Amino acid sequence: MTKVKSRSPLGQLPAFKKDPIAFLKVMEEKQQPVLRFRFAHRPVYLLMHPALIEETLIRKADYFYKSKPFKELEPILGQGLLLSEGQFHKKQRSHIQPLFTPKHIQTYVEDMAHCTKGKIDDWTDNKARPISKDFMELTLQVIVKTMFGTMVENGDALVGKPLETAMEVAVQRIRTIWKSPKGLNIGNNRLFNKAVGDLNQMVDHIIEQHSEGNDSLLSLLKNPRAKGEGSMSIQQLRDEVMTIFLAGHETTAVTLTWTLYLLMNHLDVYEKVVEEVEDVLSGDLPTYQEATALTYTKKVILESMRLYPPAWLFGRQAQEDVNIGSTYVKKGSTLMISPYAMHRNRRYFDYTDDFIPDRFENGKPVGVPEFVYLPFGAGSRICIGQHFAIVEMLVILSTMIKSIQFSPLSSKLSVTPDPLITLRPKEGLWVLAKRKL
Ligand code: HEM
Repeated sequence: MTKVKSRSPLGQLPAFKKDPIAFLKVMEEKQQPVLRFRFAHRPVYLLMHPALIEETLIRKADYFYKSKPFKELEPILGQGLLLSEGQFHKKQRSHIQPLFTPKHIQTYVEDMAHCTKGKIDDWTDNKARPISKDFMELTLQVIVKTMFGTMVENGDALVGKPLETAMEVAVQRIRTIWKSPKGLNIGNNRLFNKAVGDLNQMVDHIIEQHSEGNDSLLSLLKNPRAKGEGSMSIQQLRDEVMTIFLAGHETTAVTLTWTLYLLMNHLDVYEKVVEEVEDVLSGDLPTYQEATALTYTKKVILESMRLYPPAWLFGRQAQEDVNIGSTYVKKGSTLMISPYAMHRNRRYFDYTDDFIPDRFENGKPVGVPEFVYLPFGAGSRICIGQHFAIVEMLVILSTMIKSIQFSPLSSKLSVTPDPLITLRPKEGLWVLAKRKL
């Protein structure tokens, strides 16, 4: 273990706060398996070796809970799947898991494709599109339609804005030592409370709109008796709905934006994707079989998540003293795992900063050990929606690319990564969208 010293009483927190991506780069350059530093009084360990990540997320997972900073999201997500712990989490996960089997995902493809078609039908031809916003609205529609069986109109105003505010305030709180008590309705707290109120209203609307009897997440959550369990409280139902609703659209939208950004800067790769889509899709909209046969397009998405992993950083909090490798970790310490730092680690990837989709084969980067590439995490808390997300992104991209010719608005598009809860493109992305004849 290497200690990273600091003269500041706040330790490495100011450097991290100022520019988290630059901070991770500096840490990666040290080429150490684990780095120890302080965020003010809190000891933090940044794990940079796959064996230590495997030990933390799998073999010794029971020693850890989600890290405290993540818990800043509790006012929004409550005890939904992302934040709940222990036996309760296990029970909820096994309850929700069946909706994410390949058999179920197949049945969502038609809705995913129709939502996409509806979106592009509204576009004015040959005009610049705010595609990052389009993706956000579209993935929101997809999650609501597939998981809850309803549609939302005007999603950006109703959800996009409050979500952005809530995330910004939560991130500020995560990176601040002194926090005004959450109960005080002042300044940022007021903004946050208003945003959470708006999101809650949206979720209530989704729950109200839901009609009994359809095969959706809500039916499953409302009827746990089917599995011989007691019924779920209204609060728990809302927490689970909010979690799937938020975890299930933003990450996917961000990945689609980064993917198109990379394609617009690598038009040779874009042409190969267009060729594959033309070859594989028999009509305008893909079937499940066709979407999952887009092997090159999938490599492009995986490589995009290597360079810009939406979940760029996540963490765990030790519930007891524990050894990770030869490092003794005291109860209460935070362990940080950064897919961003691992995915750009020179020890594991050649030409780390270059966009090379062919480095993937059978869904994995060739010649790279397990637990280095982890856009969806690992172990019992691995993303429940990972297969859903991959299929959704293949369906959305191929449906768009079949009907629309995209081109960059300038010879070199430039977007700055903005590491909030997810790694977003700061200024959003605009591209030219021309209908194919
Ligand atoms: C590109 C898209 C996505 C990425 C990169 C992503 C990433 C992640 C990561 C890294 C975690 C684990 C966090 C940790 O261990 O602390 C996670 C958990 C989770 N994700 Fe995703 N996700 C994506 C899409 C989705 C979708 C589409 C859904 C739902 C439809 C979803 C629902 C969840 C839930 C509920 C959890 C918590 C699981 C648990 O703790 O049991 N995600 N995601």
